[in-house]
Amino acid sequence: MVQLIDEMPQELRYHAEYRYHASGSAGHRRHFAENARRLLATELTGRDPFIVEIGSNDGVLLASIAQAGIRHLGVEPSATVAEVAESKGVQVLRAFFDERTAEAIRSGHGMADVVFGANTICHIAHIDSVLRGVDALLAPHGVFVFEEPYLGTVIEGTAFDQIYDEHVLYFSVTSVQAMAAHFGFELVDVEPTPLHGGEIRYTLARVGARAVQPSVPRMIGEELTRKLTDPATFERFGRTVERIREDLVTLLTRLRAAGKRVVGYGAPGKCATVTNYCDIRPDLVPFVCDSTPAKQGRLVPGSHLPVRPPAAFSDPYPDYALLFAWNHADEIMAKEQDFRAGGGQWIRYVPEVHIV
Ligand code: SAM
Ligand code: TMP
Repeated sequence: MVQLIDEMPQELRYHAEYRYHASGSAGHRRHFAENARRLLATELTGRDPFIVEIGSNDGVLLASIAQAGIRHLGVEPSATVAEVAESKGVQVLRAFFDERTAEAIRSGHGMADVVFGANTICHIAHIDSVLRGVDALLAPHGVFVFEEPYLGTVIEGTAFDQIYDEHVLYFSVTSVQAMAAHFGFELVDVEPTPLHGGEIRYTLARVGARAVQPSVPRMIGEELTRKLTDPATFERFGRTVERIREDLVTLLTRLRAAGKRVVGYGAPGKCATVTNYCDIRPDLVPFVCDSTPAKQGRLVPGSHLPVRPPAAFSDPYPDYALLFAWNHADEIMAKEQDFRAGGGQWIRYVPEVHIV
């Protein structure tokens, strides 16, 4: 399992001022509405089904489940987003999911037919306690479904900016299969999803409860061929990341010398990784704009780039926009056609530095 060595305590990451709102992106809203539709049609069909979501955030998935009148519980430690979910009619337990929380849910609500998590399980260092918790909570034929950034995409797309304090674990199909087996589960299905530039949806069931789909051995074979378990792959990744840093800083310095204005687009966690690793300060990129109201008026941690509302982007348009929220590129570029039409250009830095 690829994972961070240093752990930032979870209470410092998820709290009453946590600022990530999943529903901020139309793509995310569509993705999770579709996810809810699928779960309602396939897994939540029995008599009085029950779903628990770990990291339900602002209710981007569970709002659709609540609307369908299905019994559900979101487990969410960050009050900021839990409140938003509640305002949409979602039931939320404000807590960190672990073995103890799972046992309390089971005593209060009974077993779950589905335990779901998206972009959350990879944030949890006490993954052993999570899996023991799922074991305590899941009905005999239930499924634990989670969607997370994929190590293969990070390595092959040189998406080094996916590496930051929140992302403790970087799953591969090989590592998830081993982890599942260790806790009495079986990895029965894997499916790529396009979210965040390329993720995998893993489905775990109790051993023997469900047929293992051909996608599992197929992807494990592919990971072997792609050398995703070979140290040389990681050494090469490190060298490519260093080259990106060099190329990006050279480009930004050259543009500044030529009197061009460059602003950042999006202030996701990824932006903190890139700006700190490359030492990009306001002298190179005077601000970033971001659509999340809670981030506006603040500074990117470490590099201290000011975060402004999207309106600042067109007032006036810069010559270049450095796209930090590259996983939302289609949505952003469709929205910002006037920038392009006026001669503006996008700077991207993964899988290599290029201008589009
Ligand atoms: N599921 C949404 C999505 O895919 O966009 C939100 C993902 S957000 C990046 C991660 C969420 O997990 C945050 O709202 C955070 O507060 C929550 N979280 C972190 N650790 C958790 C834990 N141990 N149990 C439950 N939720 C947790
Ligand atoms: P994420 O990559 O973690 O989903 O974060 C994306 C960030 O980009 C988030 O802070 C919101 C911001 N954003 C915009 O500013 N404009 C947009 O159109 C989209 C889709 C996201």
